[in-house]
Order: sequence, then structure tokens, then C-alpha cells
Amino acid sequence: MPTRRRPRLAPSLLSADFADLASAIREAEAGGADAFHLDVMDGHFVPNLSFGPALVRAVRARTKLPLDVHLMIEDPLRYVDAFHRAGGDTLVFHVEAQSPPAEVVRAVHRLGGAVGAALRPETPFSAVEPLADDLEQVLVMSVHPGFSGQTFLPEVLPKVTAARERLDGLGRETDVSIDGGVTAETAVAAARAGASFFVCGNSVYGSGSVGENLKRLRTAVEVGSHREVR
Ligand code: DX5
Ligand code: ZN
Repeated sequence: MPTRRRPRLAPSLLSADFADLASAIREAEAGGADAFHLDVMDGHFVPNLSFGPALVRAVRARTKLPLDVHLMIEDPLRYVDAFHRAGGDTLVFHVEAQSPPAEVVRAVHRLGGAVGAALRPETPFSAVEPLADDLEQVLVMSVHPGFSGQTFLPEVLPKVTAARERLDGLGRETDVSIDGGVTAETAVAAARAGASFFVCGNSVYGSGSVGENLKRLRTAVEVGSHREVR
């Protein structure tokens, strides 16, 4: 049976109140978050703009939890150093971006960071396969990147399973991360499919109490991770 990792929850600060990130961080930590996900957008790779290393640095000063920096930018190679220095623990780049993927992986590892490769919904797992042995994370996008609050695309679930199986086959502990439209409902399906790292924006910060929202998500990922015997 493949190794089952403890499922982890990573609230995405893109959905939080940017004027009060300190509270957003504190509430998520109190609610048992395992990491924070930071969505960097350049207005080219995706139509939206968000923030750069200065904000990552400000978040770093407020939490000891791992920072998962999702680079939705055309030229990740040019910026990995800045995001690493700002305190990003895992730098997640898109294989569809312009930088040569193997060079990005090498650059991040040379800096001593962890690296993830992200796939848009329409990009197959085969696009990261040549790198699979060198990755700490494979991020499967379950919405088209650019905005929080979109609806989960269930058609990516077979790709989550394929990723998990291939990585298990290589004997790799690599996380398979799911990002976009993750709610207490869709998280169960994603966990069953093999995801171990769950990015949650709107379902944590959209409405209600952050602590209650995280509790519901925690139950969902535990249920999804344990029920299926593989
Ligand atoms: C989308 C981002 C996601 C997003 C998640 O481009 O990569 O991380 O902010 O937000 P929700 O969970 O609301 O889809
Ligand atoms: Zn993201």
C-alpha cells in the first residue's frame, strides 16, 4: 500500500483581508493551519496582479509556519532568489511558464529551498514527469489560475491520482497539492484521489469563523485520506 502522508491545510492569504494579515495569520494558526500559501501573480502569466517578495517577508515576520509561495509568473527563474530571501520555504513554479523547469529546480535547490512544480488544469502530469525525482511538491490546479473564489474542477482528480501513483512508484514522499475551489466537500474527493496538501482560500477566509472553517476542512481531509483502502 502506498505511504499515506498526514494531510496538511494551507490557507491562501490571497482571500484574507490584506489590511489585516496579522489577524488572518493568527486566526489560521490558532485553527491548526499547517502552512500558508502565498499567491504571486504578475499580470502576464495570469491576468491578475497580487504581490511580491515584500509581502512574503512581512508574513515571514509574523509566523513560523512554512510558507508555500505559488509563483504564477512568466519568469520564475529571475525571482527565485528574491522569494527565497524573503522567507519562502517552498517555491512553486509553473511548468508552463517561460523559465526552463530543470533550471528553476536547480536554482531553488542551490539556494537550499524546497521546490514544487504546478500544473494548470489542462496540463498533464507528463509535463512534470522528467522532474519528478527532484521535486518536493507537485501542485495540481483545480481552477484556472488567477483568482480565488472559483469553482473546483473535478476533471483534474484523475491527474491527482496519476501523480500520487507515479510518485509512489518512484518511492518519493513528494506532496501532491490541490489548489483552487477546495471546500469541505471537494477536499474529501481530492484527498481520496491522493492529495496530501490542501490550499484553501475562500473556504477559510470567505465567511464565518476561520477556526470553524479550518475544523470542517480538517475533518474532510481526514475522512478522505483514511476511508479508501488502496
Ligand atoms: C488561484 C490561486 C489559489 C487561490 C485559492 O490562482 O492559485 O491559491 O487563491 O483560492 P480558493 O480556495 O478561493 O479557490
Ligand atoms: Zn495558489
